[in-house]
Amino acid sequence: MAAPGGSGPIGPYPARVAADDDARADYDKLRRRVLWSLPYGLYVLGSRHGDRRNLMTINWVTQVSFDPKLIAVGVEKTAVTHELVAEGGVFCLNTVAREDRAIIRKFTKPVEVDLAGGTLNGFPFHDGATGAPVLDRAAAFVDCEVRQAVDCGGHTLFIGEVVDCDFLLPEDTEVLRMEDTRMSYGG
Ligand SMILES: Cc1cc2nc3c(=O)[nH]c(=O)nc-3n(C[C@H](O)[C@H](O)[C@H](O)COP(=O)(O)O)c2cc1C
Repeated sequence: MAAPGGSGPIGPYPARVAADDDARADYDKLRRRVLWSLPYGLYVLGSRHGDRRNLMTINWVTQVSFDPKLIAVGVEKTAVTHELVAEGGVFCLNTVAREDRAIIRKFTKPVEVDLAGGTLNGFPFHDGATGAPVLDRAAAFVDCEVRQAVDCGGHTLFIGEVVDCDFLLPEDTEVLRMEDTRMSYGG
């Protein structure tokens, strides 16, 4: 047990949790529910390496700097997207309209690419400034070049500088958030 005030590491269990399996299992469940309660947006992340492209549903996203303009995305190491972002060094964040929430279920597995038809899983796209795919029906896109990759264990936090962005739908379009779905991720 560590003393309060930062004289040593505490985690992962605080002192108030008894050191037995039941108490720890209860706390594990509680911690998951608390982490699930954190508010998030919900996005589609475009990635590209060479001829390979993907779109992936993601909620671990935030801006992390004003100057330069940096966006951080947390990507699971086992995901195809991870390989493409790590190798390609770019990603494109797409926001989607709130009323378009069904789209989120279409991008939880690697996409089927139809280059001749210009679609990913049947959804029309075009390549952004970085070459990463922009969803044609996105509300807005934020195209980024990776500046740092931080190893976070099961995920990598890719930090990208915004090199292009625009609205594709009217600026006042309400965009999708995690609370618009019954899904959870994290915890
Ligand atoms: C609501 C929701 C949110 C998600 N958020 C993330 C996320 O923040 N980071 C992540 O790596 N995967 C997230 N996923 C999982 C990915 O969408 C996807 O299932 C998995 O990582 C495989 O991606 P791939 O197509 O790149 O292989 C989320 C899935 C859902 C349904």
